[in-house]
Amino acid sequence: MKKSVNINWSELGFNYIKTDYRYISTWKDGMWDEGKLVEDNKLAISEASTALHYGQQCFEGLKAYRKKDGTIQLFRPDQNAKRMNESARRLLMPEVPKDKFIDACIKVVKENEHYVPPYGTGATLYLRPMLIGVGDTIGVKPALEYIFCVFCIPVGPYFKGGMSPVNFTILDYDRAAPWGTGAVKVGGNYAASLYPHELAVKKGFADCIYLDPMTHSKIEEVGAANFFGITYDNKFVTPKSPSILPSITKYSLLHIAKEYLGMEVEERDVFVDKLNEFKEAGACGTAAVITPIGGIEYKGNLHVFHSETEVGPVTKKLYDTLYEIQFGNIDAPKGWIVEIQ
Ligand SMILES: Cc1ncc(COP(=O)(O)O)c(C=O)c1O
Repeated sequence: MKKSVNINWSELGFNYIKTDYRYISTWKDGMWDEGKLVEDNKLAISEASTALHYGQQCFEGLKAYRKKDGTIQLFRPDQNAKRMNESARRLLMPEVPKDKFIDACIKVVKENEHYVPPYGTGATLYLRPMLIGVGDTIGVKPALEYIFCVFCIPVGPYFKGGMSPVNFTILDYDRAAPWGTGAVKVGGNYAASLYPHELAVKKGFADCIYLDPMTHSKIEEVGAANFFGITYDNKFVTPKSPSILPSITKYSLLHIAKEYLGMEVEERDVFVDKLNEFKEAGACGTAAVITPIGGIEYKGNLHVFHSETEVGPVTKKLYDTLYEIQFGNIDAPKGWIVEIQ
């Protein structure tokens, strides 16, 4: 019998909801076990786990989308698997084989199918894969045991009632060090961002923009999202730096800009004192797809792009195209979609 849940899909935000099953697999003595689905949402781990003390852990975020015909699809899970393994290598953790990663995501979606929101609500099932160092290792060294786990929660659309621009500020804080861990998805980067985020919100901004940690002259990240700008001659421009997290959404938009919208694309330096080269700007990531940037405050001045209240036409087109691909209404480039059978 098909299970059902009592959820008001239109009121979903981004909050923890205990769904029925999560996948868990353990690495010990040099190998992964087969992994299994469990109902218990508590992990029992050693108090000496490296994940707890030294941040030897990483995570990912991706979504399952319900299509118009009721079927479900994942968007580019292979890219999350690849990025998780880049994080794993940087922190000396064992890699999770790509097929194991994707299989775990599929299993979790299937077993929690009744939590995948209906088509048309804009809501999705968010998957949170994570890899943590566990076991009795108190020294500052890699753990001898690891847990790979994937759980899921239904989440609402980021913008209820349509996309609208928000403003960001630039503070004196860095999220990553030059040659540090900015390019991988490890918890320490996020711990470091909590305080500047709070300062930005207290100043009345959505979040802060991080500049390159070496010279503080170039835009890197917009909170926990990548930056893009549209130049007056219609180029899609996004920053290039070894301390930016390579956003899967950003590279998908870059492809869409080039192949679907016929735009020129550039990955290059974006100088914070040359923002007037852009007619539109946005932040992109799995959570919101695109958050249009109304303005950026820097040294007391607010630089407004297209508008503080209206979404620019190119931003809108990029958003709509990717959104429709993710929900299965526009054909995706080869390999982007994994159907849940
Ligand atoms: C720091 C940071 N930058 C960018 C992104 C956007 O990445 P993606 O598009 O893969 O979600 C995220 C979210 O994962 C992030 O945490």
